[in-house]
Formats: sequence, structure tokens, C-alpha cells
Amino acid sequence: MRLFIAIAPPPAVLDELESRLAPLRASWPALRWTGRPAWHLTLAFLGEVSVDTAATLEPRLERAASRHPSLSLRVAGAGAFPAPSRARVLWTGIGGDREALTALARSVGAGARRAGAPPPDEGRRFRPHLTLARCNEPASIADLVRALTGYEGAPWTATEIHLIRSHLGGAAPTYETRGSWPLRSGRDGA
Ligand code: 2AM
Repeated sequence: MRLFIAIAPPPAVLDELESRLAPLRASWPALRWTGRPAWHLTLAFLGEVSVDTAATLEPRLERAASRHPSLSLRVAGAGAFPAPSRARVLWTGIGGDREALTALARSVGAGARRAGAPPPDEGRRFRPHLTLARCNEPASIADLVRALTGYEGAPWTATEIHLIRSHLGGAAPTYETRGSWPLRSGRDGA
């Protein structure tokens, strides 16, 4: 099964983002815009994992999560992969406890590797984001990136991580949460 590990922004944060994007969606109809079900903050993408390996993975994720504190995060700014002048992906970034978030992503990836499900992108720089839209062909979307550059969503506290299964096949993938594990409560203590 196709798996990844993510943080889910709360509904109020997604509502706010949806309102900000609504006029932009209308002005840029050629893009393939994503919607709320796809707006997760991926910590590690694992790709295809066997049922047995997935079972080994779960306690590893539980342990990794328990070693990291809850995080204060916010949706902030925007950018494009690989670049605004020849974009394939429009994304919004993540502000707040980014260092701690990166450490969490590293632990989750290491736990997956030890479970026998090494993330194929392990070793690449972690660039926390939510994907907002995809371009069928590389496109110049610098104006769109600029329109979102100053965007700052309300802060929220991320208190858990999720193991999510992605089902391909339809027009857009569908997502099924397989398990959720709490981060350590409190910001920097016990
Ligand atoms: P994206 O938002 O940048 O597309 C499920 O596909 C999640 O895993 C998405 O959030 C996706 O990131 C992320 N992901 C990371 N690497 C991926 C890869 N090689 N293939 C598919 N999804 C990947």
C-alpha cells in the first residue's frame, strides 16, 4: 500500500486557506487546484509498503512521535517547485517551530527506515509545504506566487502525527488515515 506520514492542519486553518484561495482559483483556471482532503503537511513519503512492514512501522512511529514536543505552526507564504518561472507545483509554506518540525520529520523517516520502509526521498532537504496546485506543463506562475507571498494563516498547535494511505486511481487520490500518534505534550518539558 502507498503510505506517507503527515500532520493535519485543523479545519479552521483550512477554512482560512480556502477563503484566501477562492479568488485565485477563479483567476487561474488552467491549474489543477488541490482541495482540502489533500492539504496535509507531509513529514515523510514512503511509497509502496507491504502489509507486514506497515505493521512494524506503527510502533516505530508511535515511539518517534512520543520523543518530540507539540509544535506551534502556521501556514505562511508561497513558492513553486522547481521555480515560479517554470512551475509544476504551487505550494504554501509552513512557519513557526520549523526546526523542531524538521527534527520530527527526520525521526519519522529514520523510524520508517528501521521498519524496512525507507523514504525514497530521504537525504533530500525537508521543505515543509502544502501543495495547492499543479501545472500540466511547466508554467510561469510568478504573479500567483507573489499574490500569496504575504499570506499568514492563524497559528495552530500540532499535537499528533498520522500514517495515511493514499489510494490512486480516481481523478485525485483519496486518503485514509491508518493510525495517529500523539506528540509529547508541553512545548519543551517532560
Ligand atoms: P506533495 O504535496 O508535494 O505532492 C502524498 O502523495 C503526499 O506525499 C503528498 O503530500 C506529497 O507531497 C508527498 N510526497 C512526497 N514525495 C512524494 C513522491 N515522491 N511521490 C508522491 N508523493 C510524495
